Amino acid sequence: MSRISLPRQLRKVADRALLKSLESGLEIVEDQLLAATSHADKIAGASARHLVEAGGKRVRPTLVLLAAQLGDPTRQDVLDAAVVVELTHLATLYHDDVMDDAPTRRGVPTAQTIWGNSVAILTGDLLFARASQVGSHLGQASLTLQADTFERLCLGQLHETIGPSEFEDATAHYIQVMADKTGSLISASARLGIVLSGAPAEYEEPLRVYGEKVGVAFQLIDDVIDISEAGPSGKTPGTDLRAGVPTLPVLLLRKAAAAGDSEAQSLIDFIDAGLEEDAKLNEALVRLRNHEVAERSYLEAKRWADEAVEALEILPEGSVKNALAQFAQAVVDRTN
Ligand code: IPE
Ligand code: IPE
Ligand code: MG
Ligand code: MG
Repeated sequence: MSRISLPRQLRKVADRALLKSLESGLEIVEDQLLAATSHADKIAGASARHLVEAGGKRVRPTLVLLAAQLGDPTRQDVLDAAVVVELTHLATLYHDDVMDDAPTRRGVPTAQTIWGNSVAILTGDLLFARASQVGSHLGQASLTLQADTFERLCLGQLHETIGPSEFEDATAHYIQVMADKTGSLISASARLGIVLSGAPAEYEEPLRVYGEKVGVAFQLIDDVIDISEAGPSGKTPGTDLRAGVPTLPVLLLRKAAAAGDSEAQSLIDFIDAGLEEDAKLNEALVRLRNHEVAERSYLEAKRWADEAVEALEILPEGSVKNALAQFAQAVVDRTN
């Protein structure tokens, strides 16, 4: 298995000492992740390791380690928190792939296509259990944050599934879903890095806001990736589109159609008629990619990333602040 390297977003960080510290932290986190996903039970062991070994960007642990640079990043609690956030993320991926009927993840077949829905769901639950075990000694504040984050993750997925009520604005509902299902864990990662490294307490709030906004930008780009051509993400293009999961490009398209744009209406009718056939899904994807809603979705993600950087204003000038800003900007240029 290849070792995880620093997310592409951070490889251009100029401060060599900072890079080295992040890399050595991630090495340790990787070993701890492998230990935390091993099970004596054969099926549980195979299914829990399946996605860890398939790769992934390790965005959330990296953010724990990066925020912790504002304090002491070598503390064991910091490393444990980095493992906790990746285990939590992994668990949500197993559940999400069942809900979204996704065939691939991280370039490999999803767990439910190998072992069936029940094993995939239970593996997600086992990973949540392991996250709680690893984090059990991190103290009251961290445990409460983990529990609150878990609740928001579930509510985000639930509200996405149910959709907006007739009294809610569809876009506001959608952004809240993004914040809950993705922003919450990215924000918690940044906060844990501050709290557990002993960094000054006044940095927690700006890092919370930063994480929430980076998270929304990150998820908006995920929506753009869903309508992009197959690439390094290892996901199957159009998975959300086919499953009817709302994404920003489709939401914008529905708005344009409602405002009288006949081209948008014709594409909406095409999508709503069903995309079970591969040829139809591909046609819908090509038409969406060429529609202005694709570019508008990207620009919306960029706006959230810019706001994330603004939230960092009170941090001391230096390489950590620069790296956090670089990370936020690079999130919107990601292709995986
Ligand atoms: C995928 O997250 C799920 C979302 C919240 C968009 P990542 O894009 O961080 O997935 P991995 O960990 O790199 O596979
Ligand atoms: C992933 O959400 C799961 C969570 C954020 C909890 P998505 O369904 O939007 O992401 P991908 O595209 O499958 O990774
Ligand atoms: Mg989903
Ligand atoms: Mg999904």
